[in-house]
Amino acid sequence: MNRLRELVRGRTRRLWARGVMQLAMRDSPFWRLARTPTRRIFDGLAPRWDTMVASQEQDWFQALDGALDHLPTGWQPVRILEIGAGTGRGTFHLAARFPSAITIGLDLSTAMLHHGQERAREEQLPAVHFVAGDGATLPITTKSVDLAVLLNAPPFFDEIARVVRPGGAIVLAFSHGSRQPMYVSGPTAARHLRRHGFNDVIAGWAGEGTFVIGRRTPDRTRHALTPSQGTT
Ligand SMILES: C[S@@+](CC[C@H](N)C(=O)[O-])C[C@H]1O[C@@H](n2cnc3c(N)ncnc32)[C@H](O)[C@@H]1O
Repeated sequence: MNRLRELVRGRTRRLWARGVMQLAMRDSPFWRLARTPTRRIFDGLAPRWDTMVASQEQDWFQALDGALDHLPTGWQPVRILEIGAGTGRGTFHLAARFPSAITIGLDLSTAMLHHGQERAREEQLPAVHFVAGDGATLPITTKSVDLAVLLNAPPFFDEIARVVRPGGAIVLAFSHGSRQPMYVSGPTAARHLRRHGFNDVIAGWAGEGTFVIGRRTPDRTRHALTPSQGTT
């Protein structure tokens, strides 16, 4: 009986997550109605999130790394924002990859963030910060982010476009592609990014995961992202 209840809950959560993605991509005003239930779902998952995804540890970052490999060689972001950071797994991964950057993990669920905050304190990482907030109304200054990252999280494109500075980049990565409940296909994400003023948009895959990367390129210092194998 308990297993059946858990199965139904899991299915309901997946459906909910897919609905949240639709609201986010459309920057829908109805997101306001879904915000509190979504926060509650992830608050509830927080104590077991890291255990739930631990068995997929090695695959989890393949798509993210695949995307970051398309950034121009030597490009060093100063300020990184991970939206929907959860327990901070991606935030720490980014901080390790760009050690000179300030890396901020933002999430709707303070229970999820709590794990990241604890780890940043334990590992004494002063350049890693966690902030509670909603991707639909980011508590972040306009044009202040060099690299925005969403790993298995809902993209509110209006706000992403507002905070990423010209010359900055956006990465959307989905660890298990369309099997991820919070997922958007490459062509759809690419269309939204172009509409929101991102250039050099590349959609690709790495391992089981998929990614889309786009760049806000200032006219005078245009460095195209480098397409290679595994991109469309
Ligand atoms: C599927 S989890 C992914 C967590 C983490 N990125 C990872 O890959 O382990 C999605 C996360 O997005 C967060 N989230 C959902 N809607 C959000 C919103 N509007 N603003 C900020 N975070 C949100 C949830 O609280 C949850 O932590």
